[in-house]
Amino acid sequence: SVTQSDPEQKPLLETIINLNDFEQAFNKFGAQKANAYISGASNDLLTLNANKSYWQKLWFRPRIMRNVSTINTEMTMLGQKVKMPVWICPMGIAKVAGPEGETALAAGAAASGIIHCTSVTASYGLEDILAAAPNNPFFYQLYVDKQRHKSEEILKKIEMHNQIKALFVTVDLAVVSKREADERIRTQEVTSLYLSGEKNKVDKKGGGLARTTGSFIDWALSWDDLAWLRKHTKLPIVVKGIQSAADAKLAMQLGCQGIVVSNHGGRALDNAPATILVLLEMRRDCPEVFEKIEVFVDGGVRRGSDILKAVCLGARGVGVGRPFQCSVMYNKEGVESCAEILQDELETAMRLCGVTNLEKARGDMSYLNTSEI
Ligand code: FNR
Repeated sequence: SVTQSDPEQKPLLETIINLNDFEQAFNKFGAQKANAYISGASNDLLTLNANKSYWQKLWFRPRIMRNVSTINTEMTMLGQKVKMPVWICPMGIAKVAGPEGETALAAGAAASGIIHCTSVTASYGLEDILAAAPNNPFFYQLYVDKQRHKSEEILKKIEMHNQIKALFVTVDLAVVSKREADERIRTQEVTSLYLSGEKNKVDKKGGGLARTTGSFIDWALSWDDLAWLRKHTKLPIVVKGIQSAADAKLAMQLGCQGIVVSNHGGRALDNAPATILVLLEMRRDCPEVFEKIEVFVDGGVRRGSDILKAVCLGARGVGVGRPFQCSVMYNKEGVESCAEILQDELETAMRLCGVTNLEKARGDMSYLNTSEI
C-alpha cells in the first residue's frame, strides 16, 4: 500500500524559519497522498514555478535615509482592517494536512490580524470554522455548482453569518486540470492492488483527490451569471482567477467589487502567465481597475518582500496558499508562526526599501525595477 510518512517525526516548529521550510517539512513528513494533493499543480508545473520565479525577477528600487524607525503595515481589504494585507487562500479539505484543518487556519489568522478565506470544499462545517475565530472577519469562497440550487442554498446560509464579509467566486477551474502527482499516487495504488490480486478494487474513476472533489463545478458558468449571483447575495463579489487585463476590465465593468489575479497556484491552466505578468499587463492596459475596484493577487507569494512588491504594483492584498496549508501540520501555532514570519519579513523589507506606510505605497511603481521582466 501507499507509504505514509510520519508527522510525529517532523522538525520542531522553532526550526522553521521561512515559508519554504513549511512546505519542505510537509513534503518530507506529511502523508504522501496529502502532499501530492497540496504541493501538486497542472501538467509540467510551468505556471507553478513561474509564479514563484517571477516574484524573484522583480527588483526593488530602495530609497535610503528616510527614518524608518516607525512603520505601518496595516491595510483595509474589502472594508476590513488588517495588520498586514494577507489573506489565507481558500484551500479544500485542510484536514488532510492536520486534524485541526480549517479551524487552525481560522484561529491562526485571527491571532495574526489577517483573514482566512474559507473554501466551499472545507473539511470542517462552516459553523465550526467561524467558531474557531468568533471575533474575526472571514471571506468565503464559492465554486458554482452545476446544480445551481445548491449554490443558492450556500449563499443563503453564508449571509446569515455576519462574520463573512465577502464572497470570492472562483472562475479559473471550469474543469479540474491534470494533476500528475495525484495520478502517480493512484498508479501506485493500482499497482499494489494488481500485485495483491485485488484488481477488482481498482477505482475506475481515477484522477486523484483534486478531480474527485472538483467534479461538481459548473463549466457552463459565464459573465451573464454575475447577475444571478448578485440576486442571491448582498456581499461584495470578488472574482478569483483573473488572468488577463481584458477580463480584469470586464469584471470591473460588470460591477464586481474586487478581483483576484490568480491562476489557482498553477493548478488550473498550465502555461497560464505568472500572476505578476498579469498585474503588469493591467497596469499598462487598464490602470483604472486598480482605483475602481480592489485588486488582489495570489500564487507563489513566499516572502514578506513579495507582499511589498504586490502592494507597489497596486494590489490591496495577497493570498498565500500552500505554506499555510502545510503549517496546519503544526496546528494553530504553525499557522500563527507562518504569519509571524511574513509579518517580520514584510517589516524588514519596508524598512530596507524606505517605505514607512504600506497603504501610501500602494501603486507606487517608483519602488520597483521591472527591467528583468
Ligand atoms: C487550492 N486553491 C483553491 N482555490 C479555490 O478557490 N478553492 C479551493 O477550494 C482551492 N483549493 C486548493 C487546495 C490546495 C491544496 C491548494 C494548494 C490550492 C487555490 C488557492 O486558493 C490559491 O489560489 C493558490 O494556492 C495560491 O498559490 P500558492 O500560494 O499556493 O502558491
